[in-house]
Amino acid sequence: MTRIATSLNAARQAAEEEARLREAALNRWTPERLRVSMESKMNGSRLFAVSNREPYEHSYHGNSIACSVPASGLVTALEPVLRACDGIWIAQGTGDADRETADEQGRLRVPPDHPQYTLRRVWLGKGEADGFYFGFANEGLWPLCHIAHTRPVFRAADWEHYRAVNQKFADVLEQEMEAEKEPLVLVQDYHFALLPRLIKERRPDARVALFWHIPWPNPEAFGICPWQAEVLDGMLGADLVGFHIQAHCNNFLETVDYALESRIDWEHFAVNRHEQITKVRPFPISVAFSENGATPASDRPPLTRQWVEEPLYLGLGVDRVDYTKGIPERFRAIERLLDVHPAYSEKLVFLQIGAPSRTRIKRYQDLMTEVEQEAERINRRFRTGAWKPIVFLNQHHSHDAVQQYYREADFCLVTSLHDGMNLVAKEYIAARQDEQGVLILSRFAGASHELADALVVNPYDADELAEAIHRALSMPAEEKRARMRRMRAVVEEHNVYRWAGNLIAELAAIRLQPAQSAAADAGALAHAAGSL
Ligand code: F6P
Repeated sequence: MTRIATSLNAARQAAEEEARLREAALNRWTPERLRVSMESKMNGSRLFAVSNREPYEHSYHGNSIACSVPASGLVTALEPVLRACDGIWIAQGTGDADRETADEQGRLRVPPDHPQYTLRRVWLGKGEADGFYFGFANEGLWPLCHIAHTRPVFRAADWEHYRAVNQKFADVLEQEMEAEKEPLVLVQDYHFALLPRLIKERRPDARVALFWHIPWPNPEAFGICPWQAEVLDGMLGADLVGFHIQAHCNNFLETVDYALESRIDWEHFAVNRHEQITKVRPFPISVAFSENGATPASDRPPLTRQWVEEPLYLGLGVDRVDYTKGIPERFRAIERLLDVHPAYSEKLVFLQIGAPSRTRIKRYQDLMTEVEQEAERINRRFRTGAWKPIVFLNQHHSHDAVQQYYREADFCLVTSLHDGMNLVAKEYIAARQDEQGVLILSRFAGASHELADALVVNPYDADELAEAIHRALSMPAEEKRARMRRMRAVVEEHNVYRWAGNLIAELAAIRLQPAQSAAADAGALAHAAGSL
């Protein structure tokens, strides 16, 4: 009887596991599922994405031209979407060999080695780029939206450039969409707050979504922007505005309520302004997950040997060098750890990969100096022989190079002082097919809302952070495995294909007002007449 009961039990468990796997597989979003879903939802419409950052940048290295993928969460997330539907991505051409590698219109097929969609580059003059990108976007809106205690700078000249560049992108988009009826437009981020309204004015039949990749602050904080009404009005040209988390949606609606004449529909999370409805929704962005193939453990080079003969522990940080990422804070946590637990001396290396970012802005130059000096100061305090606790690699690393480090790191530190989502956290999890490694994650990053099995910390508290590192390094393998397994299930299920699928489904389902459809028909007729 006992044997029968045991084997019945085993059979039941196997059946349950099989059902779970089947359900998980059914639930999983893949590039193919996204493609099929988009095909059915888009009903023949074409997808256009607009961002400032381009997915592929060409630059000269001596006489040859190299192509690189910039360090950008937005690029990481959007690329699979464009690949899945052969869309058109409009972005600023920033590489010094970008013109040579595109046609006269600035178009080229990408990815270069396996073309799947079209990139249309837009050229900006130096003054335009300075005022629009470095000025209003990154010295104004970026610090305005991130609570990281860097004061925003608002200059009227920057604002004029910002308006002009939004107009310029609207012109290019209008040209690209000319032959398309009821196109779908995904506007990306705080560089293009004015674009949704500009598009809708020209193409009322377009369905327009604006996805805001960074946080949205409370109304009082946002209210210091001298052009807050214009920014909000531009955004409300969109049919759909997306943020990563519900809290940012709430802040946005409260800001609109506070600053503009409009009706807020709290029940449906929408704004009604001049009879145009804008839905506001959270869409937590993610990574591809399945595309992260692992190198078998035996093939991995022992990376840490570069810095210490017998390394026991490797900690990792991967960021653009930005004051919102909390890089000095994490260095000070390593210092605190070595003060409190000197046994880690000569055993732990913390590797910080820091891609230089926005280096024309003084605050970023100052931060780079601070990061270098903090690393040096801490290394001077603790170094012995060839060993030093902090290795700061101040350069951009390719996706593949970073994967190697993700797979070796015993812990990954994501200590953002404020962050919309933070895709490094999810990339680290996706890379850990061995179900080892510990994620230490700031509670001020949007990712902490989904990844409850990380060690969630306050990055301003050096003691708490140091103790989290100690806990990560002394965590039993089984606990690491259980936590990592649960986090991997979350990221696998909520991957970037689901993000895109949900965003596009919500956008495609928007019903155009009768006047908007009529405009589409008139446009199509005019187009047909033109081509007769
Ligand atoms: O994710 C937020 C974001 O500002 C993206 O818009 C941008 O591509 C990324 O960070 C990197 O910043 P930048 O494009 O200024 O280098």
